[in-house]
Amino acid sequence: MIELQGIYKTYIKGQLKVPALRGVDLNVTKQEFLIIQGPSGSGKSTLLNLIGLLDEPTRGELHLFGESVQELSDRERSRLRGRSIGFVFQSYNLIAHLKAWENVAVPLYYAGLNRKDRYQRAVAALTRVGLSKRIRHLPAELSGGEEQRVAIARALVINPKLVLADEPTGNLDSKSSRSMMEEFARLNREGVTLIVATHDPFVASFAKRLLVLQDGVIVAANQ
Ligand SMILES: Nc1ncnc2c1ncn2[C@@H]1O[C@H](COP(=O)(O)OP(=O)(O)OP(=O)(O)O)[C@@H](O)[C@H]1O
Ligand SMILES: [Mg+2]
Repeated sequence: MIELQGIYKTYIKGQLKVPALRGVDLNVTKQEFLIIQGPSGSGKSTLLNLIGLLDEPTRGELHLFGESVQELSDRERSRLRGRSIGFVFQSYNLIAHLKAWENVAVPLYYAGLNRKDRYQRAVAALTRVGLSKRIRHLPAELSGGEEQRVAIARALVINPKLVLADEPTGNLDSKSSRSMMEEFARLNREGVTLIVATHDPFVASFAKRLLVLQDGVIVAANQ
């Protein structure tokens, strides 16, 4: 389902080259629940961004759902992302002037659904993450944990095949973290492939498979 071969990512910052990934090989099959652990700066977000088609590797091969990503046009890549991948960002990326349900509905807008269907699907997704009473709130009127749950609802609203989550429980208390991870585990049982980057050992305890990144390389994996 996901195949990475010899993936390198080097950021160029002025004169400085920052090697974020230095030769990552990884296969992820359908039904996996993979957790990526690693210290700050080890390349976790970079890896998720590449798999989520938000960025391109400097070198290496990436196959997603049987397609060679390098060979796709920008448009094909956006379509693939819009239909199949739900992304929960480390810094939510909610749109400040949109209400909670409108934020959740953004991916549906790109999928061409009408307003009534967008509203119904967005409300269902918000209800699933326990936010049925916050549908018309703006991000600034929500707590950090609630914003995070809106971001998770936005990732789920397209019924993705793959969900990528970057520190999804970073701003949640332990009770909300548990219910979030139970929601992820349920999705995984329903057939969604999950890749979660985290520092949190509690989150890591939900992994079917655990991988540790350090300085841009995989240093340990439990499989
Ligand atoms: N846009 C960028 N431009 C330049 N360097 C970057 C950029 N994004 C990340 N980096 C660098 O790449 C390395 C890996 O960063 P990345 O964000 O992937 O780490 P991370 O494991 O997600 O860290 P954290 O746990 O703090 O979120 C770091 O050294 C970081 O400074
Ligand atoms: Mg990160």
